[in-house]
Amino acid sequence: MGSAKNQSNGLALAPSPKDFSKSRALRPKAHRLIPGGSHTYAKGDDQYPEQSPAFIVRGKGCHVWDLDGNEFIEYGMGLRAVTLGHAFLPVVEAAYQQMQLGINFTRPAKIEVDLAEAMLGVIDGVDMVKFAKNGSDVTTAAVKLARAYTGRDLIAICGDQPFFSINDWFIGTTEMNAGIPQAIPQMTLKFCYNDLESLRKLFDQYPDQIACVMMEAETTNPPAAGYLNQVKELCEERGAVLIFDEMITGFRWHLGGAQKFHGVVPHLSTFGKAMGNGFAISALVGKREIMRLGGLDHDQRRVFLLSTTHGAETHALAASLETIRIYRERNVVEFLWRQGERLRALVSQSIAENRLDGFFELIGRPCNLVFGTRDQDHNRSQAFRTLFLQELIRRGVIAPSFVVSFSHSDTDIERTAEAVYEAHVVYRKALDEGIEKYLEGRPVKPVDRRYN
Ligand SMILES: Cc1ncc(COP(=O)(O)O)c(C=O)c1O
Repeated sequence: MGSAKNQSNGLALAPSPKDFSKSRALRPKAHRLIPGGSHTYAKGDDQYPEQSPAFIVRGKGCHVWDLDGNEFIEYGMGLRAVTLGHAFLPVVEAAYQQMQLGINFTRPAKIEVDLAEAMLGVIDGVDMVKFAKNGSDVTTAAVKLARAYTGRDLIAICGDQPFFSINDWFIGTTEMNAGIPQAIPQMTLKFCYNDLESLRKLFDQYPDQIACVMMEAETTNPPAAGYLNQVKELCEERGAVLIFDEMITGFRWHLGGAQKFHGVVPHLSTFGKAMGNGFAISALVGKREIMRLGGLDHDQRRVFLLSTTHGAETHALAASLETIRIYRERNVVEFLWRQGERLRALVSQSIAENRLDGFFELIGRPCNLVFGTRDQDHNRSQAFRTLFLQELIRRGVIAPSFVVSFSHSDTDIERTAEAVYEAHVVYRKALDEGIEKYLEGRPVKPVDRRYN
């Protein structure tokens, strides 16, 4: 077996000084017109090196082209929403055909029932579904439904997990909580993942007050044996609703989500991102007994459950139906795991060959691979992350993570591995000689910070 570098068959893109002049010229205007210069903080300028493409013009498969015409292999596309590929023709065509029939009527469209049936066929043990346009709305709806169902106000979220919603019940608990009255995050309690006792303690401390437990079944660390089942049992023992946020895990760990992968059915769960291959669509699914509170056939207080103008835009539903069909027909999830594993093996080899053990780490499952960067003292380092991104971008790869899609071919993986190898060579030199010599411009910063 050759080195990680040699395995790439010489397909790597040579490091080239890229022309970002058009990107650079548009940046000030974007910031003048749009707070943050973009519509998602995770895409923002402070998340990328100074020498990077600021605006994308088009994408095809896993390749994108920026405003200056530079081409890149992209990872984590659309914040993990585009799992099949950019401009994936069957999905685009399904959406287009539906658009020609109309996208929003005064009464429900039939396709709402078609996708409801398809979604319930994908996820085990659920009876009802309500669609929306983004993940934050469905996690917030799940919390509201749980509060109405239990008659309790407090909620328990997994404090080690990064994100559940843009809404106040979650953002109020982060560093970036300006504009949120203090009373709101006081109703959100935190427990630790894989630590059943930390959750039990909350239930003991606040008896009969916790409406729900909100968590991802898995992020970077797998659950300890029996943990998720124990969480469910504890919720049922204490009368709380268990909610799994499947925004990332859904259609990635398994078509039926991490709940199917781990064999634990929560009372409610929320899907989004991958379910429409980038089209704006999300879903709250769960048990009829709880979901029906948003319906017309009960005599309890009514829950205003996800009633929005655009919630069931027909072309997004058509895109989702087609996405589900393709997942089933072409074994997409298996492909994501396989390509992620391929990349993991090649990057691991490069880590070993460049003596980066303990400095550059691969984290998580192959279907959702991410990396961590550490400095010469083994401390987590944004500066080294920036250097790594800078060196990858020079070689034609944008990889805030190593999250693959159905469009990442063997060649794309091999070209990426070669770019990673060369970026690792620079990383090693920066560890030995000082990062100042290699990093151009300021380091990136975490999104979740109090001040700029
Ligand atoms: C785990 C998780 N939950 C919820 C959300 C919110 O989804 P959206 O950005 O569609 O509102 C995200 C978004 O990144 C997420 O990663």
